[in-house]
Amino acid sequence: MLRNILRPISVRVKESQLMTNFQGRSFKPVYLDHNATSPLAAELRPLALEWLDRWGNPSSIHQWGRGPKSIMREARNHFSQMIGAHPLEVVFTSGGSEANNQALKSAFFHLSRQGSERRQYLISAVEHPSVMKTMEFLAGLGAEVLTVPVSRQGLLDLDTLRSYLGPKTAMVSVMYANNETGHIFPIKKISEWAHEVGAWVHCDAVQALGKVPVDVKSWGVDLASFSGHKFYSLKGAGALYVRKGFPLESLIHGGGQERGRRAGTENVLAIAALGHMARRRDQVQDQFLRLRALRDQMEKEILSQISGVRVNGPDNLRLPNTSSLILDGVDGETLLMNLDLEGFAVSTGAACSSGNPEPSPVLMAMGLTREEAQSSLRLSLGWDSTEEEVESFVRALKAVVERLRKIKRESTKLEQKQKERL
Ligand SMILES: Cc1ncc(COP(=O)(O)O)c(C=O)c1O
Repeated sequence: MLRNILRPISVRVKESQLMTNFQGRSFKPVYLDHNATSPLAAELRPLALEWLDRWGNPSSIHQWGRGPKSIMREARNHFSQMIGAHPLEVVFTSGGSEANNQALKSAFFHLSRQGSERRQYLISAVEHPSVMKTMEFLAGLGAEVLTVPVSRQGLLDLDTLRSYLGPKTAMVSVMYANNETGHIFPIKKISEWAHEVGAWVHCDAVQALGKVPVDVKSWGVDLASFSGHKFYSLKGAGALYVRKGFPLESLIHGGGQERGRRAGTENVLAIAALGHMARRRDQVQDQFLRLRALRDQMEKEILSQISGVRVNGPDNLRLPNTSSLILDGVDGETLLMNLDLEGFAVSTGAACSSGNPEPSPVLMAMGLTREEAQSSLRLSLGWDSTEEEVESFVRALKAVVERLRKIKRESTKLEQKQKERL
């Protein structure tokens, strides 16, 4: 089905053992939820043991400090090259949420302390909760938050964004790509407009790493957030790109780590893992092409084999690995659980809100009805995804959707009969 596309890259030790479901049937699990988190790259396992042996504190002057210090230096060099920044423009954090918090709170605290008139913060209506909730918090301290709507396709209303910009704008914070629909925002243009009125620009680029080539300088942003666990490395490390000269405030006060911009003894192991994966930056473009072909083929097969399916988001301008679907007449959570039993890991939206019965705020902001949002499924491929996995997923999805729709039809008929009897 999917010929002539580049080969997958082995990033994880594929589960060699088959799993057994509750009916006693064996299956090979298939992971299609890379936007929630990615598997740990296989090559990091032996390296992690080596790094763990260099357990000293990187701030120590003696020999035990020198090993971890050089690990940190190397990681910073590789990571900064991957995002097109200078090594000193990288502040390592615990992950994307912390980086987003620091970017927004730092701007607000700095400007408030200066008694600045700039109190307006522009965000898109589909930002991650780590941006949304931070802005809610800052609104309680006096920030004015202006939310820019998106269209049914998830496109940002650029006219509204532009009309909001002015001498009171402190910062524009727009994500590089949406975690649920994969939609990519025009960050370069947004940076230019914001800078014209003297505002700063922050970009939550957590979903960009490893999926699209990243170049913070050409994006023109002042700050950008990244997370290691979305890029085949460990949880517990991320980064904030801070343009040289930006007056960054620390959120965590204490020692002088990260040049006083983020106190606390560093998570050397997770930072080393992120730095190591950044060495593979040259593979991003190839994987972009491979995953886009694989995702497009998957969507084509799903749309041709299963009726009543629509794709959320625009055709182009999407992350190459992400597919957000509406499956008419099927409850997303039920579908997810049934697919899980068959060995396929997918999601109904952001991982941090699963278990929440409310429909995805991102899909609701795009103007989907509650029913449509609750019938949605997010599929996200990764560097290790294969044609065979996608083919078996499409087969399983077709079977599960048909089964669930049949059950629904039969229960509706039953209900009607019962009503008629009354
Ligand atoms: C767009 C976006 N921003 C921020 C985050 C938070 O990153 P982390 O899990 O590293 O805190 C996520 C995680 O899902 C995300 O998708």
